Amino acid sequence: MKNNSNYLNVMLETASAEFGSALEMLAACKTSVKDTFAFGYFEHSKDEYNHTKTFLSILSKAARMMPADIARKYRFNSISLFSKGYLSKNGYLIETMKLKDFIAYVYTNELLAKESFEGILKLVKNNYEDTNAIKNIMNDELRHHGFAKEHFLKYYPKLQPWQLKYYKAKETAKNRFRRIYDFNLKLLGKLLNPLYILLGYFGVQIISLINTSNLSRTGRNLMDLKSNSIL
Ligand SMILES: [Fe+2]
Ligand SMILES: [Fe+2]
Repeated sequence: MKNNSNYLNVMLETASAEFGSALEMLAACKTSVKDTFAFGYFEHSKDEYNHTKTFLSILSKAARMMPADIARKYRFNSISLFSKGYLSKNGYLIETMKLKDFIAYVYTNELLAKESFEGILKLVKNNYEDTNAIKNIMNDELRHHGFAKEHFLKYYPKLQPWQLKYYKAKETAKNRFRRIYDFNLKLLGKLLNPLYILLGYFGVQIISLINTSNLSRTGRNLMDLKSNSIL
């Protein structure tokens, strides 16, 4: 059961990451000054949307085989992309990063995505259809990586290989941090939920002791009551 939950979690996290990339690429498309760049980002965004669709369909197939109370925990919710760190409330990367750093980000992340799919392939190895779909996604990611590399060599020829290695190490660390953050968030939720329920329970007990029928309203202007009063 634990492994099945892990399977759902991997598919949900990957779908979320893909959806985050699709939105980032669409934002980059909208801000492109050159038609050729806009077209490239648009095609990239379209691929990422299709990857999201593939992972959501693998997720829903697996969730249907699971008890409803477990499957419910792995529902896709686009708002969670912020708390999971796939999108930032400060804006899209194209708006908050220097263009050179942004291209480096795409370059390294496409390669890291392809590497992480190798792990996912092992999870779906018994399903021919899903294996093929993920292999196609891996080819897409390598193509994206190639485009970003081409762009780099053309526009930033002075960039040294060690700088690209540095970008890769930075993104790997960020991905690890995101996983730790997500784990801590879930742990905190588990620890604090009983406390919230307890507080809610005592709150209801206190409110139920308040008897509004004894309150004298005669001669009082109810509009003078505080707007945040519960009475
Ligand atoms: Fe992708
Ligand atoms: Fe990609």
